[in-house]
Amino acid sequence: MDTGLLLIPGPVPLHPRVQEELGKPALPHYGDAWIKAFAETQDLLRFLWEAPKGKVFSLFGPGHAGLESLAFTFLRPRDRVVVLDNGFFGQRTAEVLATHRIRVDVVASEWGTGFDVAKLRKALAKPAKAVAFIHNETSTGLTNPLDEIVELAHAKDAFVLVDAVSSLGGIPFPGGRLQVDAAFSASQKCLAAPAGISPILVAPSLWEAADPKTVDGWYLNLFTWDKYQREWGEWHPTPTTISSNLFYAVHRALVLVKEEGLQARFDRHARAAARLREGLGQLGFEAIAAPDLVSNTVTCMRPPTGIDPSILARGLQERHNIFISGGLGPLRGKTIRIGTMGTQAEPEVVDRFLAAVKTLV
Ligand SMILES: Cc1ncc(COP(=O)(O)O)c(C=O)c1O
Repeated sequence: MDTGLLLIPGPVPLHPRVQEELGKPALPHYGDAWIKAFAETQDLLRFLWEAPKGKVFSLFGPGHAGLESLAFTFLRPRDRVVVLDNGFFGQRTAEVLATHRIRVDVVASEWGTGFDVAKLRKALAKPAKAVAFIHNETSTGLTNPLDEIVELAHAKDAFVLVDAVSSLGGIPFPGGRLQVDAAFSASQKCLAAPAGISPILVAPSLWEAADPKTVDGWYLNLFTWDKYQREWGEWHPTPTTISSNLFYAVHRALVLVKEEGLQARFDRHARAAARLREGLGQLGFEAIAAPDLVSNTVTCMRPPTGIDPSILARGLQERHNIFISGGLGPLRGKTIRIGTMGTQAEPEVVDRFLAAVKTLV
């Protein structure tokens, strides 16, 4: 079956060695082989998050499950959390946290612009338990400055809860050096694995400060996951069944990241995104994100006058079998979004896409 070229910002085409894992017979989610792969995955996750001492989890669920698990485990109803919103996923984070009866204080800035430092400082003048933000805003193709935000939050004793869904494995995330307290990602983006596992990082300091007795819930409670790792670690290290095909596919994707090397991988993403922006720029497209904040994993651009983004996307699909995304929220009908994540971040892929666009504009 010709599935075409998937250039949406996740899921992305699977590497053949990752794809291969999905076609294997189902295996048990316990036993010796499983324990070995599980332990390797834990090490690979610490490597990926650049956090040798971090507590890591492969939560079985999408990125949002990662967010809810961190909210359930480390935040309580009535806690005040400052949420940075400069795009769709910042807004979504505020919405999700509010459903946990957390007092959400949104610090908004215009989509495509950086977060407002003065507003954040003002919001942090009052005590806050945490600052939640999106490392790479997939809706606008913008990367927020991880180090700066972590520093501002820590200066006011707030912990950081970071959405690294479209950055982990594509853009540097020095979780250990920056002492990132809590972060989550999703397997279907820069790791180029199937959707369904949310890699999680928790700093030891945040972990030790939390009181397991005050955490509600079971499945999304990370203390449950930790208990099974500790008490059943010899044979069955997770609280529930996990699809073995999915787990081995993610394990394989992580091995591929390690084989490539993080810096080489980040450079590959940077080169592919620059090539894409340059090519689209020559055709009159303009990035939504401020020039110093443009993302290396997601490109969001407004087409030149006279080009309708949805007609362009349809033309790419019907004439070239290439799939891209449109705008979200206020950018709906105004922009196109293209991923350069994992397998998409290759010069031939970018060139094939640009050649196809040229036939339609
Ligand atoms: C920045 C960001 N956060 C969260 C999500 C949600 O991820 P999931 O659909 O895996 O829950 C996405 C999905 O595109 C995203 O790009």
